[in-house]
Amino acid sequence: MTERVLTGIKPTGSPHVGNLLGAIRPALQLAASGDEAMYFIADYHALISLQDAKRLGELTREVAATWLAFGLDPDRVIFYRQSDVPEIFELSWVLTCFTSKGWMNKAHAYKAAVDAAKADDPDAGISMGLYCYPILMAADILAFDVDLVPVGKDQVQHIEIARDIAQRINHVVGKPVLKLPKPKIDAATEIVPGIDGRKMSKSYDNTLPLFATPKQLAKRVGQIVTDSLPPEAPKDPDASTVFKIYRAVASPAESAAMADRFRAGIGWGDAKKTLAERLAQELAPAQDRYQALMADPKRIDALLAAGAAKARVTARTTLDRVREAIGIAAR
Ligand code: TRP
Repeated sequence: MTERVLTGIKPTGSPHVGNLLGAIRPALQLAASGDEAMYFIADYHALISLQDAKRLGELTREVAATWLAFGLDPDRVIFYRQSDVPEIFELSWVLTCFTSKGWMNKAHAYKAAVDAAKADDPDAGISMGLYCYPILMAADILAFDVDLVPVGKDQVQHIEIARDIAQRINHVVGKPVLKLPKPKIDAATEIVPGIDGRKMSKSYDNTLPLFATPKQLAKRVGQIVTDSLPPEAPKDPDASTVFKIYRAVASPAESAAMADRFRAGIGWGDAKKTLAERLAQELAPAQDRYQALMADPKRIDALLAAGAAKARVTARTTLDRVREAIGIAAR
């Protein structure tokens, strides 16, 4: 039986190599493996932190063009913008009414914001959007009778909240109107280090860009933090950021050969050059497709609109089922 997989992509920054290796590629492989996939741009989630109209519009297109450039096939994957599916937001309100405030108090994005605010006013800088964002995320998922949600570890709590909300409604109405989703964590590709060795993330400013020239890329790779061992000294590949990024990009055979070079003694300059060239080779075909798409924003918008039309069919069915169960007559 094929399973429906769904995941959301928040357009809050330009996509980087960590996104490609940790999220985009595994999601596209999953979609190609026969599962029924729905991937969407979570633009209304981004609004929580990104309230610059121009930038939000640009980033939404950048993210869409990136996924398409790296091979998302819109005939196979239902690919859409969250804001184009109004049923999600109606469902979100219904879910809100079945969600205990205490669950939101425990959600870690909110807790982190409270910790950051500290001091005298724990509510400082916290919008209701941030507070309730797990509910909107639950609606994103529950609207589509999803089986699996590929996410990073940091999102697992939100999937659990979606399950809790679905269970609560099902219990109250006395029938299974909402399907319980499960998280899917891809351990192998989870953590791609950035140039400082921590997880690659725009918040650490340690990313490698996807759409840079080979020269810009080489410059950034040159900034990867290394130790000061001389070239001839044997090096432990598993302790090296350069190697870890290489392994995430290259094939297992290429990685094994690179590991041998590390153990035999390789200069950091050489290692970085090999990595920069391999990355440039990997990214080149998608870069051309990306430029072509970005030059034709109407085409991106049309593809996303076509995806939303497909998504809405399923969301409508779920919403009608829920409305009927809670006593709000279907239209
Ligand atoms: N909250 C997710 C993130 O920050 C993005 C997201 C929004 C999502 N809705 C979703 C992921 C639904 C999976 C399913 O990365």
